[in-house]
Amino acid sequence: MDAQIISGKEISEQIREELREKVAYLKDRGITPGLGVVLVGEDPASKIYVNNKIKACEDLGLKSKAVILPAEVTEDELLKKVDELNADPEIHAFLVQLPLPKHIDENKVINRIDPHKDADAFHPFNVGRMLIGDPIFMPATPHGIQEMLVRSGNDPAGKHVVIIGRSNIVGKPVAAILMQKGKGANATVTVCHSRTSNLQEIVKTGDIVVAAIGSPRFITKDMIKEGAVVIDVGTNRVEDATAKKGYRLVGDVDFENVKEVASAITPVPGGVGPMTIVMLMKNAISAAYKANNLEM
Ligand SMILES: NC(=O)c1ccc[n+]([C@@H]2O[C@H](COP(=O)([O-])OP(=O)(O)OC[C@H]3O[C@@H](n4cnc5c(N)ncnc54)[C@H](OP(=O)(O)O)[C@@H]3O)[C@@H](O)[C@H]2O)c1
Repeated sequence: MDAQIISGKEISEQIREELREKVAYLKDRGITPGLGVVLVGEDPASKIYVNNKIKACEDLGLKSKAVILPAEVTEDELLKKVDELNADPEIHAFLVQLPLPKHIDENKVINRIDPHKDADAFHPFNVGRMLIGDPIFMPATPHGIQEMLVRSGNDPAGKHVVIIGRSNIVGKPVAAILMQKGKGANATVTVCHSRTSNLQEIVKTGDIVVAAIGSPRFITKDMIKEGAVVIDVGTNRVEDATAKKGYRLVGDVDFENVKEVASAITPVPGGVGPMTIVMLMKNAISAAYKANNLEM
């Protein structure tokens, strides 16, 4: 039987429609949610991500504020911009696009963001709140993965979820979210990484496999249990002379072959990517609700 293709494009569109109503409710009360995005330097991928976030704000009727800084900006100058956004009443939430240039301490910048305006939920305060199951904001990519599973009829409750990758922005928070006691979670979670022994055997025990490695087509058909659900977070640029841009995006999963054994699988592009953007929008809108003591 063909695998179910879990379309992040379609699911994110459903969520956008729900968010439009939330924005309309605020606008009726004279409130326009505002999202700030800080971009440092010229990294082409970061520029695309920032543009997509601003486009999503326009689509949903959010005010967006892009702060574009040169790669040579000093740490102090960047921290000053963070302070300004913390104090800006029209900006309910904002993020600093990562990675930052090497001379800037990323943790110092993240720690400076007001946790109540922390659109990415990377501040240690928000990481802690998420871990204890009482979040203010949820990190966008991991939250998007949870929504995709639930909305596609693949509830993780009672399932063995194997995550490959332990980064602070994907692997660890996906584990923290899916192991919670509560709706859309209750999974048994295993986290693998580059020092994992017997990776292949462990991945093969996964009812749900989440690949967040950053290595094109790393997860192959022989690693996946028949009927497993496969979530591909990877976005890798591979050269492709036939593509207009000279490259195309592929995931961490060998999609064409893995879909023959999986019961459900996310594509790249059109999978986790659009979910990340919409969950970020949700954070910005929820920040505007909270700032005005409204229940979302
Ligand atoms: N679609 C989206 O919205 C979205 C959002 C975020 C990230 N991404 C993509 O997701 C991928 C992962 O991102 P990330 O930020 O989590 O990456 P990262 O910080 O580079 O982390 C990669 C993880 O994979 C592990 N790993 C690397 N090689 C491995 C191997 N051979 N065997 C087992 N584990 C291995 C690493 O292990 P160690 O810890 O031992 O080094 C690390 O934990 C990237 O392609 C990124 O572009 C997509």
